[in-house]
Amino acid sequence: MLLSLLAALLSATACLDFGFYDTRCPNAEAIVQQTVAAAFGNNSGVAPALIRMHFHDCFVRGCDGSVLIDSMPPGSGTAEKDAFPNNPSLRFFEVVDNAKAALEAQCPGVVSCADILAFAARDSVVLAGGLGYQVPAGRRDGNISLAGNTTDLPPPFANATQLVQMFAKKNLTLEDMVVLSGAHTIGVSHCSSFAGVPNNPGDRLYNFSGSADGIDPSLSKAYAFLLKSICPSNSSRFFPNTTTLMDLITPTKFDNKYYVGLQNNLGLFKSDAALLTNATMKSLVASFARSEGTWKSKFAKSMLKMGEIEVLTGTQGEIRRNCRVINPTSTAGARNVIARSGSSGFTGVAAS
Ligand code: HEM
Ligand SMILES: *[C@@H]1O[C@H](CO)[C@@H](O)[C@H](O)[C@H]1NC(C)=O
Ligand SMILES: *[C@@H]1O[C@H](CO)[C@@H](O)[C@H](O)[C@H]1NC(C)=O
Ligand SMILES: *[C@@H]1O[C@H](CO)[C@@H](O)[C@H](O)[C@H]1NC(C)=O
Ligand SMILES: *[C@@H]1O[C@H](CO)[C@@H](O)[C@H](O)[C@H]1NC(C)=O
Ligand SMILES: *[C@@H]1O[C@H](CO)[C@@H](O)[C@H](O)[C@H]1NC(C)=O
Ligand SMILES: *[C@@H]1O[C@H](CO)[C@@H](O)[C@H](O)[C@H]1NC(C)=O
Ligand SMILES: *[C@@H]1O[C@H](CO)[C@@H](O)[C@H](O)[C@H]1NC(C)=O
Ligand SMILES: *[C@@H]1O[C@H](CO)[C@@H](O)[C@H](O)[C@H]1NC(C)=O
Ligand SMILES: *[C@@H]1O[C@H](CO)[C@@H](O)[C@H](O)[C@H]1NC(C)=O
Repeated sequence: MLLSLLAALLSATACLDFGFYDTRCPNAEAIVQQTVAAAFGNNSGVAPALIRMHFHDCFVRGCDGSVLIDSMPPGSGTAEKDAFPNNPSLRFFEVVDNAKAALEAQCPGVVSCADILAFAARDSVVLAGGLGYQVPAGRRDGNISLAGNTTDLPPPFANATQLVQMFAKKNLTLEDMVVLSGAHTIGVSHCSSFAGVPNNPGDRLYNFSGSADGIDPSLSKAYAFLLKSICPSNSSRFFPNTTTLMDLITPTKFDNKYYVGLQNNLGLFKSDAALLTNATMKSLVASFARSEGTWKSKFAKSMLKMGEIEVLTGTQGEIRRNCRVINPTSTAGARNVIARSGSSGFTGVAAS
């Protein structure tokens, strides 16, 4: 009785450790950092890509590397990474592959794909000019990836209430949500996330309901015209790969200019503009626009919280040898058959 109580307590507090790889694979974090830095040196888009990949990993079945698993059979579109919120917008999976290959060469079967992603996201924040933070590790990799589970990702047309609810489902607060949205200070978006196809609920440029010119009144007119030139009507159909910068002021710097832009109606998504529709959120936006230091330190704390969502630890899950494929010995092969029937909840619109 006492023993099982103790066991329950231990498993309830089972958590991640700082320096988890210090003895197991001492160069693990350095190897990830060097791989990410090299890729970033070639293309600074690597930083936003890996930060978002970690977010999309954590919000769907926890931070278990499930976003990295390829659909089985190939092309069947059954895995998370092939669902609308992720495909084609998630990018630079090959950077994770490169880090994993280097780690397998040095410490085979030791460093999880989920931890690689958590380290890589932190390294990306630092490379882009944000504040560094220690990442506790010991996450294990999951063996299920279902496109249908990506409905846990907030879509770009979410309103303030929906955003709060979707973050609350992951035990993140309203403040975490406003803080983490600041990641939109770097990176790019496809037209389909804010314009494009008919009946796109995220359309802020052509058919915004209740607006005479079709433009979302909460979007700066000048910015709307710029966006229309980049994303001509129906462009997501004809130019599905066109992207635009998310922070016009300092597109590649991990600074607080996202919040400054927001206050000037330069938020790109409805979900960005939504942060001004609630008094609590609006005052947080104002405080982060005023103090970059405050936002940067809060960002690090909220990223740590996000990085702990439903992690697998101890003997749960596995250490994947190849981040794209569950281990061959895994009985989870059977689960991947289930994965074949998965499908995304969203159609036609990129989310998150
Ligand atoms: C609050 C709810 C959020 C929504 C609705 C949202 C939505 C989106 C969408 C639609 C895109 C553009 C995808 C595309 O069309 O290419 C995007 C990009 C991005 N998001 Fe979010 N996001 C949210 C929160 C977050 C969070 C919490 C993070 C990370 C902490 C994040 C980091 C990023 C980054 C870095 C990019 C740029 C990706 C790139 O350049 O490859 N977002 N987001
Ligand atoms: C550098 O980036 C370009 C395109 O951005 C890509 O084609 C090339 O493979 C990259 N090279 C390396 C070494 O990562
Ligand atoms: C993932 O999708 C499966 C199949 O639709 C469902 O049974 C399960 O509850 C979902 N899990 C999560 C965490 O959303
Ligand atoms: C937010 O969206 C939901 C779902 O579309 C809707 O029911 C709700 O009324 C909206 N809330 C506000 C404040 O607009
Ligand atoms: C949120 O916290 C509760 C209580 O600690 C826990 O049972 C639940 O699993 C957590 N959910 C997530 C998504 O982390
Ligand atoms: C514009 O939106 C309305 C409903 O909001 C819809 O009935 C109509 O088909 C849309 N038109 C286009 C071109 O998207
Ligand atoms: C997009 O194309 C459809 C038909 O292909 C057309 O009916 C619709 O009016 C177009 N939308 C806009 C905003 O031009
Ligand atoms: C868009 O990108 C995808 C993936 O790189 C490519 O297969 C497709 O041909 C591109 N489409 C257009 C219209 O350029
Ligand atoms: C802001 O949103 C939160 C969460 O939905 C809600 O509890 C709060 O009442 C809202 N605040 C205001 C001033 O509308
Ligand atoms: C796959 O994951 C499930 C759930 O965590 C677990 O029960 C099962 O044992 C796993 N299989 C392997 C071999 O990892």
